[in-house]
Amino acid sequence: MHKDLCKILITGEEISKRVKEIAAQITKDYEGEEVLVVGILRGAVVFYSELVKEIDLDLRFDFMSVSSYGDGTVSSGEVKIIKDISQPIAGLNVIIVEDIIDTGNTLKNLKKLLLTRNPKSLKICSLLDKPSRRKVELEGDYVGFVVPDEFVVGYGLDYQEKYRNIPDVGVLKPEIYQN
Ligand code: IMP
Ligand code: MG
Repeated sequence: MHKDLCKILITGEEISKRVKEIAAQITKDYEGEEVLVVGILRGAVVFYSELVKEIDLDLRFDFMSVSSYGDGTVSSGEVKIIKDISQPIAGLNVIIVEDIIDTGNTLKNLKKLLLTRNPKSLKICSLLDKPSRRKVELEGDYVGFVVPDEFVVGYGLDYQEKYRNIPDVGVLKPEIYQN
């Protein structure tokens, strides 16, 4: 285990198994349709790349970069578009792929923005969900795992841009972010 973690919450193996289940559900739900899969940079990249390989549909890829967190562990409550999707989404089935739903602010604002562009459909797929921290009404349509109110890293999730490449999801030692 990485020295800055106090425990592993979900192993990479458990994630792979769950990713296959989610991909099978998406494949079934969109049978015969094309889907634009929008990954949210950078946290969703690891989840995204494992997920798309398991979806048996015609997919288009795109990415967005948004920021709501700065460098800390507390949400600022607003979303800033740093990099937008590079194609129109009108008439397309869109699935937003995110690493974690925490307060819900990021995805709520993003959803509102993307809906103004008239997609055929818009759904949210998140690897993790921390419902105990929700500040706005927002639900993921596909959720990998519900996690407790602890700061987690790994499998794409970071603390100050570190730990994204850890293959499991683990809880960061509080002394790392309390110093
Ligand atoms: P929200 O707007 O509060 O839902 O924040 C979502 C974003 O906050 C995610 O995309 C993550 O980048 C970040 N975040 C929230 N909780 C955690 C965590 O436990 N570990 C790492 N990043 C987190
Ligand atoms: Mg993020």
